[in-house]
Amino acid sequence: MLRRRTRRIVLASTIALGLLLVAWDEAVRPVKGPHSELELKVLRDGELTVLFSPYFRTAGRCAGCHGHDPNGLASIDSQGRDVNVADDWRSTMMANSARDPFFRAKVRHEVMVNPEHQTAIENKCLSCHAPLGMHEEELLGHPPFTMAHLDTSRMGQDGVSCLSCHMQSQATAGTFFSGELQFDSARAYGPYDDDQINAGIMQSFVGFTPGLGTHITNSKVCAGCHTLITQTLDLDGNATGDEFVEQATYHEWLNSVYSGGASGANATHCNTCHMPRLNEPIILAAEYAFLQGLQPFGLHHLVGGNVHMLKLLKENRDTLHIPASAVQFDSTIT
Ligand code: HEC
Ligand code: HEC
Ligand code: HEC
Ligand code: HEC
Ligand code: HEC
Repeated sequence: MLRRRTRRIVLASTIALGLLLVAWDEAVRPVKGPHSELELKVLRDGELTVLFSPYFRTAGRCAGCHGHDPNGLASIDSQGRDVNVADDWRSTMMANSARDPFFRAKVRHEVMVNPEHQTAIENKCLSCHAPLGMHEEELLGHPPFTMAHLDTSRMGQDGVSCLSCHMQSQATAGTFFSGELQFDSARAYGPYDDDQINAGIMQSFVGFTPGLGTHITNSKVCAGCHTLITQTLDLDGNATGDEFVEQATYHEWLNSVYSGGASGANATHCNTCHMPRLNEPIILAAEYAFLQGLQPFGLHHLVGGNVHMLKLLKENRDTLHIPASAVQFDSTIT
């Protein structure tokens, strides 16, 4: 009797273990390249990712302090509105530049037309649309970053992430274009003077030194991606030696009255319009209530005219694994 029950328990647990192993086997069986369902879930779903790489950090890391403050002290304006930069940024076109399905379809199309240039085309597109993923691999001296890499690169999927702007080289910003970005190692430049801020907190927790970068409040920080010049191919896919200006928003601005003429002294920079300022003190980092509020504070709205795609992203945010809520999208759309 006892023995039969023991045997039954043993049998039941063997079956359970077997089922568990089958389920586990199912979960870890590669379905896309070397990656399993489980791995893809970890790689793709959920909140903003917190990821450290040799050169960069994802926006999720920055959001720990510059995101929503559960204590309601940091990133709150005088009317009690949450103005944190991470939540404003995450539902913008730039935050979703790597997930944008129109972008992805267009890359596919260009590669179908010129399959022999697949690597070069994809690598070029991703230098602006997935900048941290692409430039990480380039800085490491690895083979070119392509759409196949993007699929499982959280650094790449982070789109035009915080450091794509804040880490740009102070000395050379405004002199490089077409996604050929240059960075200063482990720096996060911002609008405030070095002696206005407590740099130590970010230095010890993130390994990045925050401090003044005069290029940040200048159109120069947008130039690297907002002028794109490409090398043209003939109908057989051979380089013609010519160049084509695909878009040149930065240069259009430079040649407009908004650049303030030769001296540039009275310029209206890209951020003046695209990142409206609050002229009241805002505490920059959550959990550090002792910090003084700083001003002016640039809202990370980063809007343009692309309401159509924002609506599409909002409606398909689960399928596209976008870590932004419908409410956040509505705010950007508005
Ligand atoms: C130099 C940086 C840069 C590179 C390189 C680049 N893009 Fe873009 N792309 C942009 C910018 C900036 C915009 C937004 C332009 C605007 O809104 O006026 C954009 C917008 C787009 C859009 C429109 C997206 C939408 O939802 O409306 C598509 C499609 C696109 N890019 C495809 C590509 C493809 C394909 C490549 C590679 C062949 C590429 N891009 C390379 C910067 C770049
Ligand atoms: C497209 C470029 C760009 C991106 C992407 C970007 N920023 Fe900024 N950021 C700026 C500019 C420009 C300013 C200066 C605004 C001003 O002084 O009016 C700024 C200012 C700041 C400041 C100082 C306070 C303020 O808002 O003025 C902090 C902190 C900051 N950014 C953090 C972040 C974080 C964290 C992210 C990612 C979630 C991010 N930024 C994404 C361009 C960018
Ligand atoms: C552990 C908290 C913490 C994290 C995480 C963090 N920061 Fe900061 N950051 C701070 C503090 C504190 C300051 C200074 C605020 C002050 O003294 O008022 C600051 C200042 C800044 C400034 C302003 C610099 C200036 O001189 O204008 C920028 C820009 C910035 N951070 C960007 C980032 C970016 C980008 C990330 C992610 C890579 C990040 N921060 C992650 C705490 C943090
Ligand atoms: C690392 C590259 C990069 C940098 C730096 C960059 N952008 Fe962009 N930006 C893009 C790309 C890529 C897109 C197109 C995203 C898409 O449509 O998928 C874009 C789109 C935009 C749009 C269109 C948004 C819409 O809803 O139509 C605006 C506005 C914009 N950027 C402003 C700025 C400003 C202002 C700066 C500088 C403070 C800046 N960008 C810096 C890459 C960049
Ligand atoms: C004087 C204010 C102002 C300045 C300065 C400015 N912009 Fe804009 N920008 C706008 C407005 C307004 C729109 C929306 C235009 C529309 O949709 O008709 C816009 C649209 C855009 C778009 C999206 C275009 C589209 O078709 O949706 C991009 C990209 C952009 N700006 C980038 C930049 C960059 C980069 C700079 C600096 C080199 C800059 N802007 C400077 C006001 C400005």
